[in-house]
Amino acid sequence: MTSSIKIHDEQKRGGAASAPLDPIHLRRAGVSVVIAQGTFDVPDIVHWGAALRDADVAGMVASARPAILNSSVDVPRSFPVIASRAFGWSGTPALDARTEDGARIESLHLTAVESEGAAATLRFSTASTAEVEVAYRLDEAGVLHASSSVLNTSLDRVIDVTAVRVLLPIPARAAEIVDHTGRWTREFQPQRASIRDGSWVRTSRRGRPGHDTSLITIVGTPGFAYRTGEVWASHIAWSGNSETIVERLPEGAGAHSSVLGAGELLDAGEVKLQPGEEYRSPGVVLAWSDSGIDGVTERFHRSVRARTVHPTRPRPLLLNTWEAVYFDHDFDTLAELADAAADVGVERFVLDDGWFRGRRGDTAGLGDWFVDAGPWPEGLRPLSDRVHGRGMQFGLWVEPEMVNLDSDLARAHPDWVLREAGELKWRHQFALDFSRDDVVEHILERLDRVIIEAAVDFVKWDHNRDLHAAMGADGARRMHAQTLGLYRMLAELRRRHPQLEIETCASGGGRADLGILEHTDRVWASDCNDPTERQRIQRGLSTLLPPELVGTHIGPEESHTTHRQADFSFRAATALFGHAGIEWDLSACSNEEFDAVSAWARMYRELRGVLHSGVTVRADHVDDGTLLHGIVTDDRREAVYAWVRLDTSSAAHTPRVPMPGLDPEQSYRVRAREEVGPVSRHQIGDPSWLAAEAGFVCSGAVLEQGLPLPLLNPGQALVLHVTAVE
Ligand code: DGJ
Repeated sequence: MTSSIKIHDEQKRGGAASAPLDPIHLRRAGVSVVIAQGTFDVPDIVHWGAALRDADVAGMVASARPAILNSSVDVPRSFPVIASRAFGWSGTPALDARTEDGARIESLHLTAVESEGAAATLRFSTASTAEVEVAYRLDEAGVLHASSSVLNTSLDRVIDVTAVRVLLPIPARAAEIVDHTGRWTREFQPQRASIRDGSWVRTSRRGRPGHDTSLITIVGTPGFAYRTGEVWASHIAWSGNSETIVERLPEGAGAHSSVLGAGELLDAGEVKLQPGEEYRSPGVVLAWSDSGIDGVTERFHRSVRARTVHPTRPRPLLLNTWEAVYFDHDFDTLAELADAAADVGVERFVLDDGWFRGRRGDTAGLGDWFVDAGPWPEGLRPLSDRVHGRGMQFGLWVEPEMVNLDSDLARAHPDWVLREAGELKWRHQFALDFSRDDVVEHILERLDRVIIEAAVDFVKWDHNRDLHAAMGADGARRMHAQTLGLYRMLAELRRRHPQLEIETCASGGGRADLGILEHTDRVWASDCNDPTERQRIQRGLSTLLPPELVGTHIGPEESHTTHRQADFSFRAATALFGHAGIEWDLSACSNEEFDAVSAWARMYRELRGVLHSGVTVRADHVDDGTLLHGIVTDDRREAVYAWVRLDTSSAAHTPRVPMPGLDPEQSYRVRAREEVGPVSRHQIGDPSWLAAEAGFVCSGAVLEQGLPLPLLNPGQALVLHVTAVE
């Protein structure tokens, strides 16, 4: 379709517009968005959901005006794309901005509409002060990308922007919300609520999404589940402060019922636009599906995988040294660990915290990105060479935004440190002011040198504190500029080192969002490697992110964070479903453990092609103590499922458990993969289908109905490999 640009003349707000907007129909991958003239001279989103035919649009638009209500505005209510009180909207506004002399940027009128293919941009302006732009794009996965901007078009006024939100109206049948919460070592836990009149607002004022990030907010029909229900989901691609809103007012939102949206959470005075300056909101990504949470997950995964920055090389099996040695570094120990890693088939060896000047614990050193000559008298190159010599990549931990006051950097540049109220330390550290170019340049220069000198292929980029006040030397809040400074630095580092891969970590999963993933290649999901916890953590995160972006490590028998014991096979099956790695002192392993890790490494290499490209599926209605999840290839010829028992339950048997996502007419062979260790059962014998040596053959239709699975003991997971047979 060719681009069409319509310029609207100045129109009076209210009543019928002199040149009504022709409806815009964006349609892609089974999703439609219809934008049309509402009550005011500012268009409404008339529909976001199931695909419509072009022929349906006129009827949808003609039926979009609700009744004029008692005790209400004297026109049909409307929910414009820039909803605010100027248009009779009493809920949370899409835009909150004013000039410094107090005039609100609110009474905007449409000046231009540009639409091409499945994208549309709407421009509005107000009395020679500001231009506001709202942009929508449906991508090839049917994911809607929405963002807004405010440009100061005045000659001499300053505009204070406090909120720019993307808001979409949602039908009344969406009656429930599922979002996420969590804490350190237990991130991404789903929680469910009913939509009621009022606002469900989830905020991060942590300077990062946080361990309790809502991650993704899903609203849907009552009881929506992984495989069923109509759902609308939203995620904000931003690594600083943000808010997500589900809101319902008694008078509704135009012809709809409630509102789903998100925006950056700005403090007053944080964004002041001088004439000619512009604020652009973070992108909000939104997905609709009529096949439950798995439906929106499939759209998000396809969308994420289509990004030009998505990693395409096979995800290397990794060993991270943190839990093996913590801060206790010396060449011999780490060289021995690197050799052991190479022997089991590791492809990337990552030296975690503790390598830089003064860093013998977590109270000192952050900011001084020079190799510590104590443990590393010859620098890191000898270790890096050893690692490369064994055919592995060399990775290094950094925490560039942070500083300990006990560092040469903080002593030399106290004004570079972002101030916190009450000088509140967190893990003995503060953040540096990344809104300052001199700070960004200094840190960048240091990282650049270390990466070159130590031949670093991979960086684990950590961020181990909440930023609360985050004030610059002048006492002004810096979170917005801090986040942009971070993105600027990551972009520049990648420009200088195009082959470098970066992991985002914030004490585990405190910063796992699609904003930072524009500049990084994977997320460290959690500091907890206990598989019982990890199953739930990874399940929550997998609603947004495909497994190849999620670091999943096998740890020792006793978890360092929960002190729970877990069998090898359970740890192995759990770490398999992601970008797998090892967080374990292999040099202390028994021969049996060594062999088991080697077998698991081979299995990961064999299956990662499937695991890192297929469709994520999760079964509903399984026993409360269990989970069934899997990955099915796009052509539905192969799948890997995990049947997991986290807890005992009162059921004395396991009835048929659906294995979703396969082709009902295709025949498949199902085999249990137990080469990394036996999976212990709470039964005398397996279901008969599992006894067949060469695997059990049946159709996808039978597997969708489900197979009776073994009754596992708690803390066990069985990997089932399904392959098409002719
Ligand atoms: C927190 C991270 O989440 C850990 O994996 C580890 O890198 C430590 N920081 C190092 O200080």
